[in-house]
Amino acid sequence: MTIHTTVLLKETIDALNLKEGMIVVDATLGGGGHSLEVLKKIGKTGKLIAFDRDIDAIDRFKDRISAKGGPAFGWKVGSAEVHDENIKLFHDNYSALKDRLTSIDIFSVDAILADLGISSDQLVDEKRGISFQGDSPLDMRMDMTKGMTAAEIVNTYDEQDLIRILKEFGDEQYAHSIVRNIVAQRSIKPFSNTIELVEVIERSVPGVYKRKKIHPATKTFQALRIEVNQELEALGSFLSQAVEILKKNGRLAIITFHSGEDALVKWTLRENARGCICPPEFPVCRCQQKPIVELITRKPIVPSENEVLSNPRARSAKLRVVERV
Ligand SMILES: C[S@@+](CC[C@H](N)C(=O)[O-])C[C@H]1O[C@@H](n2cnc3c(N)ncnc32)[C@H](O)[C@@H]1O
Repeated sequence: MTIHTTVLLKETIDALNLKEGMIVVDATLGGGGHSLEVLKKIGKTGKLIAFDRDIDAIDRFKDRISAKGGPAFGWKVGSAEVHDENIKLFHDNYSALKDRLTSIDIFSVDAILADLGISSDQLVDEKRGISFQGDSPLDMRMDMTKGMTAAEIVNTYDEQDLIRILKEFGDEQYAHSIVRNIVAQRSIKPFSNTIELVEVIERSVPGVYKRKKIHPATKTFQALRIEVNQELEALGSFLSQAVEILKKNGRLAIITFHSGEDALVKWTLRENARGCICPPEFPVCRCQQKPIVELITRKPIVPSENEVLSNPRARSAKLRVVERV
């Protein structure tokens, strides 16, 4: 069972221009909300290839689709009957996009979507420690089979690196004071649980910050999660592969949830949509660079007021779409 509410569902599916028989990648399966809609559109002659670095998301989706009648026997999604061979699930980082597709002899696709960040299922999962509410192991990994935990990072990174992470990935104005207290605290006892970090953050920020709408630990937790999961590195690598493997007129739709992520998507897509990159003083083009994509959304699509009211987690979502030329 998933508790995740899909964000910008109709907007994303409409933007992808899906048709029967298409090959589509969902780079971030999560609760499978977007994937199920994709399946309805591409029907039994289409193919959905979905990635998630969290094995629980993959397992949950398998349960979800088998509950609909068992993929081995064909099952109904809306008006479409879907079979096992219509779906390929990869427990992997979406930065392995091209390698994984090549492994199943797919070299280009009709549409790709990515709904970045974490799902509500992960947020409430106590073993992960992504949320600052409650008390959990300070882990934060989406793929719990590999990589450094948040505890290892706060216990071992040097002070300057921690400050940079809190500023760059969290936009945290009290980064210096939070990190100073983290470093002092870890020399007494290394961090192991979320509550220990929340306590340090709370005593590092002024009283007025504590009365704001967002919890004082929000930004530090977001920044650490991004560092733990190397989210921006994975995203940069995914974007360049995604535009490359799209077929002509194929669409890429990406939903972001915070400014660092959105800036990376915006600038990478713009770069790919720009032709010549010669300096303006060159009288004629020497780089011969041609646009790879066309921007379908110059400004991002954002959720309606109604969507935000019914799902507050949608409030910071931004959808950007490009089409391969
Ligand atoms: C916001 S949820 C997706 C929700 C989904 N669209 C739905 O409607 O249910 C994001 C999912 O992407 C996965 N994810 C995040 N970064 C990833 C990456 N680099 N590679 C693969 N999966 C990733 C997370 O584990 C999470 O399950």
